Amino acid sequence: MTIKGWEYKLEYENEREEIHSAIEEVLNSGQLILGEKVKQFESDYAKYCEVGFGVGVDNGTNAIFLALKALGIGNGDEVITVANTAVPTISAIISCGAKPVFVDIEESSFLMDVAKVESAITSKTRCILPVHLFGQCVDMEQVNLIAKKHNLKVLEDCAQSHGATFNDQKAGSLSDIAATSFYPTKILGTYGDAGMVLTNNEDLYNKLLRLRFYGMEGGYNTIEHGYNCRLDEIHAAILLKKLNHISDYISKRRHIAEQYKDLLSDTNLVLPVEMPFRKHSYYLFVVRHPKRDLILEELKKRDIFLNIHYPSPVHLMDGYKYLNYKNGDLPLTEKTGKELFSLPMYPSMTEEKQLYVTDAIHEIMKKFQL
Ligand SMILES: Cc1ncc(COP(=O)(O)O)c(C=O)c1O
Repeated sequence: MTIKGWEYKLEYENEREEIHSAIEEVLNSGQLILGEKVKQFESDYAKYCEVGFGVGVDNGTNAIFLALKALGIGNGDEVITVANTAVPTISAIISCGAKPVFVDIEESSFLMDVAKVESAITSKTRCILPVHLFGQCVDMEQVNLIAKKHNLKVLEDCAQSHGATFNDQKAGSLSDIAATSFYPTKILGTYGDAGMVLTNNEDLYNKLLRLRFYGMEGGYNTIEHGYNCRLDEIHAAILLKKLNHISDYISKRRHIAEQYKDLLSDTNLVLPVEMPFRKHSYYLFVVRHPKRDLILEELKKRDIFLNIHYPSPVHLMDGYKYLNYKNGDLPLTEKTGKELFSLPMYPSMTEEKQLYVTDAIHEIMKKFQL
């Protein structure tokens, strides 16, 4: 048996009819761009996230970029965030002309250490960008308190946290504005690229509608500089169908997570912790072990190919050397980055595959006395 960290074929087989009919409906409608499906998905997904407005865009990176633009963030501004995120969080900040300023993380949750945010604030800071990593929310109560005190904006990166909650409120509804991705691997993922910006603020909403469409308003008339970041009808139609299944996807992920916790409780892998007042939606099931590389090598020999999220924190990547961070600047980000790896996690993962993985881990731990 070959095991990968993520697979979609079984889920696709189960939903084949729905997906194909959604695509056909769009192709037969005569409206391929910015039509009814996009509008409906924006409205339905915003409702799911308990926010007033959603603006569908072409991917999660541009969702962050446009959200920052809508907030008026640009050249010379600083945005406080973390370095243990997907590169797009950072590339979006840089694309809008701002500078990312990194704070370290909490070791137990891998999330932004909110206690470190205030000391990173300078006269140039305009925004805090918490990343709800792996399916779990940052402590937004604290983030919002700090933001209020220093008159800063807050933008949530929700690409990995569909359906997660903090104090019973959904990720994406906990700040001024939020950005998400519907990249195929995501909890709600399409068969291609898509994203959305979410907000309760009507002015931001109207600005976002312009920014994603060449700055146009009221027909073929650009009233401010804009971009082409449209979500297309086919992906919106697929996502509308898949949105009907989101609760099921999340409960399956949570079930798989509980099984992993049971099956691996007798090993010394550090297992994920669901923090108080938060519901984890388990986009990823990330574990830690100091002998990570040995474990992954051994798993490969057994045809189990796992991913590391992320093999290098962004502040140490060659492309961002000019930001002048060095090894040792973010000790917990760097330490956990050398030890973590992700067990396979997707709703259609079978119990047989899960047992194959956990049996292999037990065998490796025993063989090498880890
Ligand atoms: C935390 C995070 N932010 C942003 C993104 C960007 O999303 P996309 O790949 O749709 O551009 C992703 C996904 O790759 C992500 O995981």
